[in-house]
Amino acid sequence: MKLHPTGRFDNSASDYQHIEAVPLAAAMGAEIRGVNLAALSAPQFSEIEHALFRHKMIFFRAQTIHYADQESFSLRFGPFAEDAYTKGVDGYPDVQPVIKEADDAVPIIFGSCWHTDSPFLETPPAISMLYGVDIPPYGGDTIWANSVLAYELLSDKMKEVIAPLRVRFSMGDVVETARKIMPVSDSPLGRLAATSADTVDSTLQRKIDGAAHPLVRTHPVSGEKSLYIDENYAECFEGMTIEESRPLLDYLVGHLVQPALQCRLRWEPKTLALWDNRICVHQAFNDYDGFRREMYRTTIAGEQPS
Ligand code: SIN
Repeated sequence: MKLHPTGRFDNSASDYQHIEAVPLAAAMGAEIRGVNLAALSAPQFSEIEHALFRHKMIFFRAQTIHYADQESFSLRFGPFAEDAYTKGVDGYPDVQPVIKEADDAVPIIFGSCWHTDSPFLETPPAISMLYGVDIPPYGGDTIWANSVLAYELLSDKMKEVIAPLRVRFSMGDVVETARKIMPVSDSPLGRLAATSADTVDSTLQRKIDGAAHPLVRTHPVSGEKSLYIDENYAECFEGMTIEESRPLLDYLVGHLVQPALQCRLRWEPKTLALWDNRICVHQAFNDYDGFRREMYRTTIAGEQPS
């Protein structure tokens, strides 16, 4: 069943004193205007944080920032998270390049399946941030879907049925796919392609073994309940086989990523976007072969989902 969010979620802008919020879609997302991220005041930051939790994904245009600025803006939200895939740039180990060169014709790219960041960790990141430097003339958009709204739109009976379930998340499928179809390279997926079942180290094995989290997750700040599930890493429900889990997993993921619950960002150079990784999923599009895309990512530590 396709649903429409009207009346179930209010994505209108709050009346802020120090920033301006301009909603992007009915379901989620907002552009924040009137700020320079390299010189942010405390009242501006506190309204930005409020806007992030309200709109789930926020973005800023025309921000001239360097690694140090992205690092200090990120640290205002909390310490850096463990990042599952990437490695940082020189001097800034937590500012992680996500780059696809014009001549990289790869079958999959980092983030190209619907996912929440690193749910296979015991404590997945709370917030993720991406800064665009080189952007294709068309393509390369990112899409998000609102997991709070997805939960809200389920029937009371379905909410009752899924309430006790826990989801087992694993990096295993991604590793296997990378080994099968990706060329070895110094990129997040290219590095996975270079591993083998015999040489896997303990850090990667921990991510393949994964973690189990409640399917219905409560946001520690807003108290909102959301569907904590995705297409990329959710393997099965705890205590059930993959075959038993698949029909309900597929239904819930399809329900979550329906267009009515999404917003889509067209990147420009110097756009910075951040999202509340606890309560939305996202997907990067691999539709820009022949063009370069250069982004820098940071992630902020979260808590054990409950
Ligand atoms: C990600 O999944 O964090 C990357 C998203 C993107 O490159 O648009």
